[in-house]
Amino acid sequence: KTPLRIGVAGLGTVGASLLQLLAQRRAALALVAGRPIDVVAVSARDRTRDRGVDLSGYTWFDDPVRLAREAEVDCVVELIGGSDGPAKATVEAALARGVHVVTANKALLAAHGMDLAVEAERAGAALAFEAAVAGGIPVIKTVRESLVGNEITQIAGILNGTCNYILSRMEQDNLSFEKCLAEAQKLGYAEADPTFDVDGHDTAHKLAILASLAFGGRIDAEAVRVEGIRSIKQIDIRMANRLGYRIKLLGVAVRTADGVEQRVCPTMVEKTQPLARVMGVTNAVNIDASAVGELTLVGPGAGGNATASSVIADIVDIAQAGSRGPVFAAPAGDLQHMERAPVKD
Ligand code: HSE
Repeated sequence: KTPLRIGVAGLGTVGASLLQLLAQRRAALALVAGRPIDVVAVSARDRTRDRGVDLSGYTWFDDPVRLAREAEVDCVVELIGGSDGPAKATVEAALARGVHVVTANKALLAAHGMDLAVEAERAGAALAFEAAVAGGIPVIKTVRESLVGNEITQIAGILNGTCNYILSRMEQDNLSFEKCLAEAQKLGYAEADPTFDVDGHDTAHKLAILASLAFGGRIDAEAVRVEGIRSIKQIDIRMANRLGYRIKLLGVAVRTADGVEQRVCPTMVEKTQPLARVMGVTNAVNIDASAVGELTLVGPGAGGNATASSVIADIVDIAQAGSRGPVFAAPAGDLQHMERAPVKD
């Protein structure tokens, strides 16, 4: 059987885990995919850094864009990160020659997802991004495919592992915000620039992607009203607790009569609610859907193996089907987004 040839651009925590998991599960994956999955090329900034993986079997590219343009691959996995720069150029270069793309890059999709989706459709290539939202939780597939028989009316989620880790540790161990953030960075959960985490932008990116899939409109991260967790103090957490609540950074997208309302803000969640029980780096997505009712998916939202798990799911889909067709709804089906809509209580 013809293998699916993969090029991996970016060998940070997720990239290194991806190479390990693909090697460990090679036989099982080939069975499900119907053909072998071979990583043939890799690219990263520093070739000499010890990542705990043997890179000698792969063609090395210093420049990810060259990998995307020149490597003999069927699919490029973009794990560089960032909304523009090399990540965007790499994805564009791959799509331009009809090479499938798997990305974990929520910032890129939030900023340019619609244009990239149009380009992918034109090129007959897949643009797959299960790993971009809620790490290891299969939420993209759930919203796009498993819930297709439903009208989704609301999505509320804990979508940033770093913030949930900080809020959990502040509550459980009485630690300061700064100390908890430093720990989250050390564990490899935080973004390269952690202001994206703590100021709520990473949650907003993921929420806008989910809202687009759930409600059929364009991705509109600009329209999300965003407030992060920097101002949350021990006293806030303790007072909330005493009243029977936990403070969580929630991303909420609601379909209203006037359009889609999207907001990210620290929220008092009653301790009896499923989202209040989610602690640590875990993410959770609560969905109100017309046929199935309410459901909550819970799982690891960041970290190498969890995120690589979602990347592998996309790779296997591509190996099975070739292209997954259009990823976002056509602009014709666009829903109006309510710009910086007021929060309704
Ligand atoms: N910094 C992100 C988080 C990584 O903490 O959730 C996963 O997107």
